[in-house]
Amino acid sequence: MKIKKLVQKEVIDLSCYEVKTILERKTDEKIVKMNLNENFAIPSEAVEKLLLDACRSIDVRAYPPPRGSLAVKAISDFLGFSESEVAVANGADEIMDLLMKVFVRRGSKVMVVEPTFPMYTFFAELYGGKKVTVMLKKDFSLNVDAILKKADKDTRLLFVCSPNNPTGNQFRESDIKRLLEEFKGVVVVDEAYADFATGSVINWIRDYDNLAVLRSFSKAFGLAGLRLGYLVSSKHVVKYVQRVVGPFNVNSVTQQAIVLALQNWSYFKEKINLVVNEREWLMKNLQQIDGVSSYPSDANFILFKVTKTNLTSAVVTERMENRNVLVKDRGHLPLLENCIRVTVGTRNMNETFVSALKEALEE
Ligand SMILES: Cc1ncc(COP(=O)(O)O)c(C=O)c1O
Repeated sequence: MKIKKLVQKEVIDLSCYEVKTILERKTDEKIVKMNLNENFAIPSEAVEKLLLDACRSIDVRAYPPPRGSLAVKAISDFLGFSESEVAVANGADEIMDLLMKVFVRRGSKVMVVEPTFPMYTFFAELYGGKKVTVMLKKDFSLNVDAILKKADKDTRLLFVCSPNNPTGNQFRESDIKRLLEEFKGVVVVDEAYADFATGSVINWIRDYDNLAVLRSFSKAFGLAGLRLGYLVSSKHVVKYVQRVVGPFNVNSVTQQAIVLALQNWSYFKEKINLVVNEREWLMKNLQQIDGVSSYPSDANFILFKVTKTNLTSAVVTERMENRNVLVKDRGHLPLLENCIRVTVGTRNMNETFVSALKEALEE
């Protein structure tokens, strides 16, 4: 049978998001992972204890609380929202998927501000949505006029990532406010990195019923492997998102671990502060290296440009990889020629990165 003939066109056309996988049980200590914006400042013993404690207090023979309701309660209590204003899923990625299920079908338009996180485009195209691209300005700020000009009645969603991956900057609140007031669809503000920044628009959900804020436990809490992301929005948006989710989408270990993580917020906050301090250390060190120039960051990563002549970001990334330091080449993206994104790590990781980069530039 020719299976391809049966497959939906959107799926055939879809390009897969490639990730270099590490198959070992634990991250190989010899490989310095600074390519996926994970958080290794949280010691592995701490997450191990969190998981064991979570496992001890639940029974995995039973189905988990439906639609992540245990985690929803913990998050809404923690943030001071009602449970009807929060939805959870397997990572912020799955929340994007759910939003597309609710709002996007063939012919719908989804606006994406580039360069940014690629999964908005992936999920929009999966549902047959038409991606409309608007570029950031050269200084990486939002081009609000261009966004509003390109939007029309078929534009269902606008994705704004703040702080933006991979540029690292948080957008001006006044720009987001103007979008919420003038854009005629839902404005999705992806705040996966907001814990490393100084501001957030999460408290605006009661003022704007077209605001949908995404958050993640993968970054600040160092729980990327557990897969828990959430949406905070008006109860109207949350109601429809809950309608399209399977009844047992988030497993019980993850839900209980989230309860415990939020009970231990002060511990995680301390580690977030540590990452922010390391970010400053890394920035200072990058500024002292000839042949690169870095951009300011409000996130747990830094974007820098390879400025040395006759050298590309792809070559530097490969040379770093040969030295067991993984970073993310972003040089093929518009506005980001010869740029590399590096995740802020522990002091040890950051020192290894700095010496590997110096060698890679001189090789
Ligand atoms: C901007 C942004 N949003 C969402 C995600 C994915 O979050 P999660 O791990 O919760 O699916 C990432 C991961 O890199 C990201 O950079």
